[in-house]
Amino acid sequence: MRKIAVFASGTGTNFDAIQASIEKGQLDASIELVVVDKLDAKVIEKAKAKQIDTFVFNPKEYASKNDYERVIVEECKRRGVEWIVLAGYMRILADALLEAYPNHIVNIHPSLLPAFKGKDAIGQAFNYGVKIMGVSIHYVNAEMDGGKIIAQRCFDVVDGMTHDEAEAKIHAIEHQLYPETLKKLLEEK
Ligand code: GRF
Repeated sequence: MRKIAVFASGTGTNFDAIQASIEKGQLDASIELVVVDKLDAKVIEKAKAKQIDTFVFNPKEYASKNDYERVIVEECKRRGVEWIVLAGYMRILADALLEAYPNHIVNIHPSLLPAFKGKDAIGQAFNYGVKIMGVSIHYVNAEMDGGKIIAQRCFDVVDGMTHDEAEAKIHAIEHQLYPETLKKLLEEK
């Protein structure tokens, strides 16, 4: 059983999907800590409802990114966390985390990387008029949505598809692909 930490900034539907997969016995892991950088993020209540520890912080209260990351690393290490799973965590990582967890930090992004990095990837893809959209899971490095791709899944953008419909499809894919990919990764390494 692998100990993981999930990092999120918002709703936490990917947290839900990963936790559900653990509860069903599909993913042999345990979420030891949920790290959140927004004091009012919905994911906080979700984690608490599952009796999972949370570390909620305000980045503005720290002098630098490495300062708060050092605290996060300490919180993770003392719980024996082996893998860091970013799920809607809207921050680029610095050296403190990257050096503490080399090749053990992954992220999910709602585009077929390397296209449409950063915010509103779905909107960016729509503006470009792409005919195929998808989801990527990748290792995390110091670049925004950079790092080697681990898994991708795509779908056709049908005529007349709205932004909301594409987003719903992307979320449905994410909620399957993230637990599946984590299962493979955690079993391999
Ligand atoms: C997901 O679409 C993910 O790809 C992106 O942020 C969103 C997080 O959603 N990085 P949620 O908080 O897991 O519902």
